[in-house]
Amino acid sequence: MSSRLTPLGRRPYLGFGLGLRPDHYEAILAGEPHVDWFEVLTENYLVPGGKPLHYLTRIRERYPLVMHGVSLSIGGTDPLDRDYLRQVRELAARIEPAWVSDHLCWTGLDGTNLHDLMPLPYTEEALRHVVGRVGAVQEFLGRRILLENVSSYVSYRESEMTEWEFLAEVARRADCLILLDINNIYVSAFNHDFDPADYLAGIPVERVWQFHLAGHTRREDCIIDTHDHPVIDPVWSLYADAVRRFGAVSAMIERDADIPPLEDLIAELDYARGIAAAPRAAGLAP
Ligand SMILES: [Fe+2]
Repeated sequence: MSSRLTPLGRRPYLGFGLGLRPDHYEAILAGEPHVDWFEVLTENYLVPGGKPLHYLTRIRERYPLVMHGVSLSIGGTDPLDRDYLRQVRELAARIEPAWVSDHLCWTGLDGTNLHDLMPLPYTEEALRHVVGRVGAVQEFLGRRILLENVSSYVSYRESEMTEWEFLAEVARRADCLILLDINNIYVSAFNHDFDPADYLAGIPVERVWQFHLAGHTRREDCIIDTHDHPVIDPVWSLYADAVRRFGAVSAMIERDADIPPLEDLIAELDYARGIAAAPRAAGLAP
């Protein structure tokens, strides 16, 4: 654990958010819609100026933000990219996000970026490797990071533990946090034939600071995590289970293709609010 990190303490709660997409910049600024916060894709704003940063600055004046990256490659074997991390740190200093997240994956080898979030072999060796790198990143950024479970379509014969055991152990040993993608659990449970309830039960409650919700594409033999559809009922049901286990966790909807008008996503977000309110009202959630 980094000596500079403060005690874990109580999980902050932002409410219900959306992924910030350029299609919605103007609508957000024109109407100040009923969204509690936005998640921004870090890589879109690692520039010294220009239109994206202009919009981001104006939206930040009205809403809390969190930063979500895709380039950390925390499980990769190439050295950590210090230039990238420096830019992440500078953006964080500029927009003061509630937190910074990336994915539990690797994205390339020998300097080649695969532009895909590849799963890791769940071995003790990989665990030690990731824990060391998370420690270095947290030291560099001066804050804990959240790592997200990715959806996957392949697995490794070498794996010695389940994905959720691996994720939980990374969080405990590296003293980092978890962004739990509910749709990714559903997708991977289908693709790898495990019970999503086992996944939720294996994740330490106090480490989960954010949920992702998203839609996907069903093929005959597998599910692809496309973020181009509304959230489906079985994923809403899994979200309800997650709220019962983890309590009030900041949740947001990711939409990256076939992006509908902002009102449609706000209606979907209101549906999430309703689900989250139900078990809390019944006194079931911690
Ligand atoms: Fe996600």
